[in-house]
Amino acid sequence: PLYTDLPENGLIVLIGASGAGKSTLAGTWHASQVLSLDGLRGAVSDDPGWQDATADAADVLKLILERRMARKLNTVIDATNVEQSVRVELVMAAKRHGMPTVAVIVATSLPVCLERQGPRPDTRRVPQDIVRAQHQAMTHSHQRLAAEGFNTVVFADTLYRLEPLLKRLSE
Ligand code: GTP
Ligand code: MG
Repeated sequence: PLYTDLPENGLIVLIGASGAGKSTLAGTWHASQVLSLDGLRGAVSDDPGWQDATADAADVLKLILERRMARKLNTVIDATNVEQSVRVELVMAAKRHGMPTVAVIVATSLPVCLERQGPRPDTRRVPQDIVRAQHQAMTHSHQRLAAEGFNTVVFADTLYRLEPLLKRLSE
């Protein structure tokens, strides 16, 4: 089939460079199911773009994920998640609670990711070399995801939920 069905309740890890469209895709789930690293940076520091707040935001993210997995609730991680160590920690949390894990690769091309930084306000704009490194890491992550313990690995553009999203963006 063209479109991939996801488990009703599981851990969904979005993987992609800045500007790839992770938060846009995350918006197709209920807001309470989405753990956004940007959002949590804002929650702990009043500034979603303040990079010094990342460690604190990641701590909060892991705590909420743990509590949600204990309740068997569907949870979407909206962060770049291009580092293996970050993904492995997320997968371990899900496995502790017997929850299925899905990696969703948002493989938008590098030129598009870079172009999408342009219109952003200064504090939300990610430097070019960082976007480039994230994109490269996303590309390399693909072959490792199954070995990291993900039960399902899909590309975002094969998800059925993208259809209404693309319609909305083109309107
Ligand atoms: P970071 O939060 O910086 O990591 O980026 P992100 O991956 O969350 O990207 P985001 O969802 O913010 O998308 C960036 C821009 O691309 C936004 O202006 C979106 O409206 C646009 N966009 C995202 N997905 C799509 C898509 O599938 N099609 C089109 N046309 N635009 C999209
Ligand atoms: Mg985002």
